[in-house]
Formats: sequence, C-alpha cells, structure tokens
Amino acid sequence: MHQPLDVERGTSLRPYNTFGLPAAAHTLVRVSTEAQVRQVVNHPELGHAKKFILGGGSNLVLTQDVQACVIKVEIKGRQLLETRDDAWIVEVGAGESWHDTVQWCLNQGLPGLENMALIPGTVGAAPVQNIGAYGIELKDRFESLDAVDLITGRMVTLNREQCRFGYRDSIFKSLLAGKSVITKVRLRLPRPWQPVTGYLELERKMAETGTPEPSAQQIFDWICDVRRAKLPDPAQIGNAGSFFKNPVVTEEQCRDIIGRDPEIVHYPLPDGSFKLAAGWMIDACGWKGKSIGRAGVYEKQALVLVNRGGASGAEVVTLARAIQESVYGRFGIRLEPEPVVV
Ligand code: EPU
Repeated sequence: MHQPLDVERGTSLRPYNTFGLPAAAHTLVRVSTEAQVRQVVNHPELGHAKKFILGGGSNLVLTQDVQACVIKVEIKGRQLLETRDDAWIVEVGAGESWHDTVQWCLNQGLPGLENMALIPGTVGAAPVQNIGAYGIELKDRFESLDAVDLITGRMVTLNREQCRFGYRDSIFKSLLAGKSVITKVRLRLPRPWQPVTGYLELERKMAETGTPEPSAQQIFDWICDVRRAKLPDPAQIGNAGSFFKNPVVTEEQCRDIIGRDPEIVHYPLPDGSFKLAAGWMIDACGWKGKSIGRAGVYEKQALVLVNRGGASGAEVVTLARAIQESVYGRFGIRLEPEPVVV
C-alpha cells in the first residue's frame, strides 16, 4: 500500500538545520520508506525537479531559500542483520539519529561505534561526509548501503569501495551529490571488539581513572564528556561541528610552516604528508570568541562557528571568509569548509 505523498510548500527549514539558520523550502516531501522515494521520482511534477536531500541538517549552511525539491529522509528501523565470525552487521534506516544508534548498538551488546558518540546528524548522512572522531571514521565500520537513484528510481547497493570514502568525503559529495537518496546503511562492527584508544584525550582519561582496559561503555562515556566539554550542543547554540577540514600538506610545506610557527599542531599521515590542526591555526590568528554580526567563533574550540542568536547564513559565510583570509595571510594555507553551503 502506497501512502500518498504529502507535498509541502514554503516549509521553514530553521528547525531542520543545526545552525538554526533561517530559510524556507520551496517544496518539501518527507519520505519514510524506499517506496516513497520512488514515488518522488515518478511524481509528475517533482520527478523532474532538482532535488536537495536533507538528513539531520548538521552539515549545512543555508544562505538562501532552497528552490530545489527538498527530500527530508525519515526512514526508520534498526536490526542486527547478521552475526559473522569476524563481525556483527547492523542495518539502520537512514533517518535514524546517529548518536541514538551508537547508544542502541551498545545497549544490544554491539560495541564498536563508541568513539563516534554524540556526532550530530542522521545515519544516512554519516557516509556522505564519512563522519569521524577519536580515531575512527565511518568507513572503518561500514559494510554497505542502499540508495534510490533519483533518475531511474532503481535501488542500488554500494559497498565500501564504491562509496569512495575520503577524509570527510565520499562519492555522495561529488558524483552522486543530489542524485541518489541513501535509504539504509549497514554497519560492520568487528568481532571480537577491541578498544580504539590512541587518541591523546582518551589516553589521558585512562591514566586519570586508572583504567588501562576500558569497556566500550566506558569509552562512550568518556567521549561524551570530552565532546560536551569543548563542542557546543546544537540544541543550545546553533553550529555545524567543525566548520573547516584539517588541511593536508606536503612534508616540505609542513617544514616551512614549522620554521615560522614551531608550535603548530601537526600529525604525520601514512603517505608521508601531514595534517595540520585548522583549529590551532584559527586560534593562533586570534579568532577564538570573536564574532562578525551574530555569527561567532566558539570560545572553547576555534574550529567551530556558532550562531549567537538570529544569525543569517550570509553572516556565517562572511565570518568564514574572514577567517580563511587571515589564515591564508599568516600560514599560506587555504582552509576548506566542511559543511555544504547552499
Ligand atoms: N586547537 C587549538 N585551539 C583551538 C582548537 C584546537 O589549539 O581552538 C588544537 C588542539 O589543542 C589540538 C588540535 O588543535 O591539539 C586539534 O584539535 P582537536 O583535537 O579538538 O580536534 P580537531 O582537529 O579540531 C577533529 C575533527 C572533529 C573530531 C575531533 C576528534 C575535523 C575537521 N574535525 O577536530 O570532528 O571530533 O577531531 O577526533 O576533522 C567534525 O568534523 O564536525 C568534528 C567535530
């Protein structure tokens, strides 16, 4: 049985973006099943319209109303699909909250996602930007996903390789942007579970509490503490997490910058390049706590831009450009935004 599609006009998107920016959707449809996504594709009017896929709106800067047809993904459901010798496979609807899913898995005795606790957004958005934190990226816990092609209406299944994951990147940010709707994600949680504790802040918690062999629940609780201490809760202060990616530079570039700024936080990567801490650079340029209009730089983490109340998307973009210019002026590095700017 097909439920009829409810086509909304002029819907405010303010509640649907974690920055809390004002903008409206010309047209919006909520989809809670794969069949409904196909209904959009076959719809006489919407079928041909440009589409904009909305998950939890946690990686989004809205500077204007959205003229494209907004597809708000509300597909629910979670289940343990398979228990293999080397992994549990969990299948989750794209519209489920990411954090609730991390918690649900832990409660079911399925550890492995705890380092990615409290990342805002939905499960369907997680592969789009290959979310990651504290030593684990989505791609490290990914089996496959289902998506509906917005031209043909066909369901496709993509494995890890086909998703072309990179640092905060995937095929859904380039080739498939706006072209397919992720409906289900299958997560692969390795068995036996092993903690991932290499990150400085976790090592510190282990030392402080005298817990050399933490449980998954223990790591989950620590991650929640660490994040709450330095990242603003979008329910209280509008934001989109890290606003810029950490830039990757060659060894020569890194050495050159260290020559001028010996303190710069940098991490070697397996391929010989280096990742620089964008937050450190922004901080070093004196931006922490500053504002332009009603958009500001978070006091406790300079990589996070915040809505100080009633900011417009234009103000956020103006602030972001000013930061990019000063970081470029001092370090010769062009910072690349992490969220999608509309
Ligand atoms: N730093 C400063 N000043 C600041 C901010 C950071 O000096 O204002 C320094 C810190 O002291 C630290 C270094 O910069 O030495 C890196 O900071 P942090 O450990 O907080 O991590 P990050 O590089 O800023 C990245 C991810 C986060 C993720 C954390 C933990 C990106 C763009 N950001 O942040 O992801 O939670 O590591 O793994 O990769 C997100 O993508 O939205 C996000 C929050």
